[in-house]
Amino acid sequence: MKSKSVQDIAKLYTEYFLKEGHTIVPSSSLIPTGDPTLLFTTAGMVQFKPLFTGAVELPYRRAASIQKCVRTTDLEVVGKTERHCTFFEMLGNFSFGDYFKKEAIKFALDFSLNHLEIPLEKIWVTIYLDDDEAKEIWKAAGVPEERIVRLGKKDNFWGPAGDSGACGPCSELYLDRGPEKGGPNCGNNPNCKPGCDCDRYLEYWNLVFNQFNQTVSGELLPLKQTGIDTGSGLERVAMLLQEVDSVYDTDELKNIIQSIETLCGKKYDESTKVSFRVITDHSRSVFFSIGDRIYPDRTGRGYVIRRLIRRASLFARKLGISEPFLYKLVDKLTEIYSVRYPELKSRAKEIRSVIQKEEELFLNTLEVGLEELESLVQRLKSEGKTDVRGNESFRLYSTYGFPMEMTRELVIEKGFSFNEKEFEQELNKDRDLSRASWKGKKQTYLTGISDTQNLKTEFLGYSELKSQASVLYLFKEGKQVSSLNVGEEGVIVLNRTPFYAEGGGQLGDIGYIKTNNFQFQVQDTQKENDTFLHLGLVMRGEIKAGMEVSSEVDSVRRQNLANHHSGTHLLNGALRRTLGDHVSQKGSVVSPESLRFDFSHPQSLTEDEIRKIEFDVNEAISKSIPVKTEVLPIEQAKVSGALSMFDEKYGNLVRVVGMGDRSKEFCGGTHVSNTGEIAYFAILKEASPGAGSRRIEAICGDSVVDYFQSAFQVLAEKVQDYNLNAKEIYGDLKSFGILDKIPAPEEIQELFETKKTVAVTELRQLKKKLEESLEEKLSLLYKEKKKKEALSFQLNPELVESILQSKEEFGGITVVKRLFDGVEAKSLKDLADSIKSKVETVVCLFGSKEGDTSTLVYMCNKVLNDKGVHCGNLLKLSLETLGGKGGGRPDMAQGGGKNPEKLDEAIALAVTELKQKFGGK
Ligand code: ALA
Repeated sequence: MKSKSVQDIAKLYTEYFLKEGHTIVPSSSLIPTGDPTLLFTTAGMVQFKPLFTGAVELPYRRAASIQKCVRTTDLEVVGKTERHCTFFEMLGNFSFGDYFKKEAIKFALDFSLNHLEIPLEKIWVTIYLDDDEAKEIWKAAGVPEERIVRLGKKDNFWGPAGDSGACGPCSELYLDRGPEKGGPNCGNNPNCKPGCDCDRYLEYWNLVFNQFNQTVSGELLPLKQTGIDTGSGLERVAMLLQEVDSVYDTDELKNIIQSIETLCGKKYDESTKVSFRVITDHSRSVFFSIGDRIYPDRTGRGYVIRRLIRRASLFARKLGISEPFLYKLVDKLTEIYSVRYPELKSRAKEIRSVIQKEEELFLNTLEVGLEELESLVQRLKSEGKTDVRGNESFRLYSTYGFPMEMTRELVIEKGFSFNEKEFEQELNKDRDLSRASWKGKKQTYLTGISDTQNLKTEFLGYSELKSQASVLYLFKEGKQVSSLNVGEEGVIVLNRTPFYAEGGGQLGDIGYIKTNNFQFQVQDTQKENDTFLHLGLVMRGEIKAGMEVSSEVDSVRRQNLANHHSGTHLLNGALRRTLGDHVSQKGSVVSPESLRFDFSHPQSLTEDEIRKIEFDVNEAISKSIPVKTEVLPIEQAKVSGALSMFDEKYGNLVRVVGMGDRSKEFCGGTHVSNTGEIAYFAILKEASPGAGSRRIEAICGDSVVDYFQSAFQVLAEKVQDYNLNAKEIYGDLKSFGILDKIPAPEEIQELFETKKTVAVTELRQLKKKLEESLEEKLSLLYKEKKKKEALSFQLNPELVESILQSKEEFGGITVVKRLFDGVEAKSLKDLADSIKSKVETVVCLFGSKEGDTSTLVYMCNKVLNDKGVHCGNLLKLSLETLGGKGGGRPDMAQGGGKNPEKLDEAIALAVTELKQKFGGK
């Protein structure tokens, strides 16, 4: 076969399908659009899910794409096999109610034979059990019957992606790589065919004939329009055409492997290949994910990225690399992939730095963690045990940052079993505990200390994040001690420190204090008078008073704190400019994730004010104003116009933080050095924490982009829900979709990149507009729905029948009563009319409750009025119990009140009254 590069294949593919009338759609983000149940985009069809189900208007009926995908189900075998990858690109062509099986098969075969240049005799296909139609099409297209294999649901029924959506039977194309790939068992075995798990026949293209829409409950409903969804792994096709045995030997991946060789000085061979492959694969997943703004985190997608970086670090260590390393591949990855994904060029710098910081964080503890694991394994062996318990694996996680899955992989390799459930239990216990942990636990430590000259800690953290220092005091359980040992929680006091202690609203720093043999994880920093207290846990070795240590602040977190603290100052300035000089700060909380600012102002802010304030701050950010700090005598600081907090005590010298003409405040916190570092600012919430003041919650940095991306995604989901409902109610959907106005994550990202200053303003406005328009549509829909319900209620003969079945007759009258939920008075009247037309002497007593209100409708035939039935009076009687208002004529009365729980009793009273009058028992 003629070898082709990955890029050549990609190009051939899009050119071919373009020629065949397909719209070439760019890859969507790895964060799935329109499906909250999926962690990552796992297939080309994910971005088209709403198009398959008909939830939106179709912008085109044929499409093709090359989609970035991440699948992590087999993560633990990646690197150990020839073909598993967590990241891959999927070629796909799609039809939404346009072509179906015949053309899909024709395209796939034509492209395989005439463009990929695969000889027909090497091609086999599989079909779903009884799909004779597909079989006939393949035969007619030229594939001999003996090379068409039937397979079951496991292989040949695909979807849905996520927990619902389009799915259907499929048909797959296989390439016969020759008997020698079948190994000793399959080589000459005539029964070896596609479906056998040897390496001879490899699937390279899946054609899904979408016929069903699977609901969340698993029901298969027919799709209104059939569709085609095909998927072909780009790396896999390249492997077949380049006639190599592993995807890792295809041109682009080989290029990455060679880069690793150069960087680490080791050769890619049998003994090192697992590590090389893990690093190659994981670097791609991580690179593309961070490119799509998925950042390492403790949960969700971010956790997967964290796991991948940590697993790559572990395997890099096997190559003798103990430094951050993965980030160095970013340049190579950008060079390779920006050909197909040019947007990556502008993301490279950030991707590099996020990976590097995450690697540093983990490498701090990897070595120690592995030693700990080794000694655990030795101990268990000597005790004759074969399983690793939850508390043990949890300790590796909480102390050394070993993701559970990594520990599982490591211990299983060593022949132990792993208890995942116990790990989860420990994790939950810890979550409960940490809620009540250091934070807010103000304790005094220093009262017993006599040599007061040592009590002032020198703070270096305005300019340094690392320093050498000596240990002055140690505390355990509130008491001074001379040493702290591994596993013990305690407090370290140093003579000098880069750690910022909680104050001025800004949270304390976290990080490490260590020596060659000792490591202490600083979980919080507090201040008692002028002494800085580092609170945390000894992770390794022992520490004694008097020792020399190095300390290091978690720099990523510190940067996020700085962004939010400087953002708070800009906000304070913007508030005064927008609302007036009466605004004064009443309190603030600055955390790495967000900021909260309380200030005096009598009423809630209008949307317009919020927009102006946000714009003011974003404008200051985009002006990249240098942040200047100076220490001044307090009097001088005051006349400089710097803002201070009214009831805060200041010393003789104060620190003043200035940001051009935007802000000047007394402040001891740590800040960015230039407002440009803050990147973006967005207000999340405005509310009142108490009379006369307002509270703003806001976020800074790139999380603003994430915030808008997910806010619009939530909106898109609501619109889709609406569309589905609207379709049901109105029958026709066309004029109701606003989905196309919702910007996709990529568009939002681009907007932030190109229109830094106004992106937040524009998105806020758009979001508001769309929300309002959706709100309006929803209320119309609600009304329409109620109307329809009422109609079907009134016309429902079964209901009339069932009410009549429980009638009571006495003294020549018939009484029916019934309690409903959420039925309007109008419908109750219609129902009474239907009953009145069937029975000539009937009194209808109907009630309905909705929320905490109740409705009563009493009606009877006019002839009964002459006998003495008076609906108005009966209603009055009932309302005495119920409370509320109402009245009416003798033959019809209506009322409403509260106390829906008493409806039953209220109606019973009317029945009793009638019985008394007409002699019923
Ligand atoms: N969506 C199908 C797959 O992923 C084509 O295999």
